[in-house]
Amino acid sequence: FSIFTKKNPRKPQFVTLFEQRNFAGRKLDLSSDCTRISDKNFPERCNSVQVESGAWVGYEHENFRGRQYLWDMSDRGEYNCYDRWCAQGDHISSVRAVKQDNNPARAQLFERAGFSGKKMELQDDIPNLMSRYSLNRVASIRVLGGAWVVYQEPNYRGPHYILEKRDYNNFSDWGSQNSTIGSMRRVRFN
Ligand SMILES: *[C@@H]1O[C@H](CO)[C@@H](O)[C@H](O)[C@H]1NC(C)=O
Ligand SMILES: *[C@@H]1O[C@H](CO)[C@@H](O)[C@H](O)[C@H]1NC(C)=O
Repeated sequence: FSIFTKKNPRKPQFVTLFEQRNFAGRKLDLSSDCTRISDKNFPERCNSVQVESGAWVGYEHENFRGRQYLWDMSDRGEYNCYDRWCAQGDHISSVRAVKQDNNPARAQLFERAGFSGKKMELQDDIPNLMSRYSLNRVASIRVLGGAWVVYQEPNYRGPHYILEKRDYNNFSDWGSQNSTIGSMRRVRFN
């Protein structure tokens, strides 16, 4: 008999939040989703983050609501201040892991809601959708592989939304107020 008979096939995921910039002050280690970080005796202020493995989303509000902030393994997973995750303040209330999908990254973008109109297929990062595809509005998205993040501004800046492997019928499905998209890239899990 062994307690190790059931091997977890998924890679471990681990992230550390710090109260202050440059990985200082109180810290909170997470290896699973957390609907309310104040329950963990951590202030709802986070000024730096170190991702050890996987990819994570910080949310402005409890229960994974409000603005989203991606923390993944690009730049070695080091975020020494909140500018690095395109935030305008240090408020974070909940955190969850991005669902890993090991299929090759692939997403279909549609001009209209409900997967209609002009269609583009992506397999790689696009820093400027306007210059590449003359496109600044995307009304529905089908993620067929990997996980993605769409940014409102070009060059991976501004408000952003994490997309996992599923269909997004319209912009409110990915948590946005409108269909403006400036850039889009793959989430890095390692
Ligand atoms: C977006 O699609 C969902 C179904 O996926 C629907 O319930 C919702 O009303 C739609 N929202 C808008 C703004 O069209
Ligand atoms: C889209 O919504 C965001 C806020 O979520 C806002 O900053 C931006 O100006 C809006 N864009 C348009 C074209 O309405």
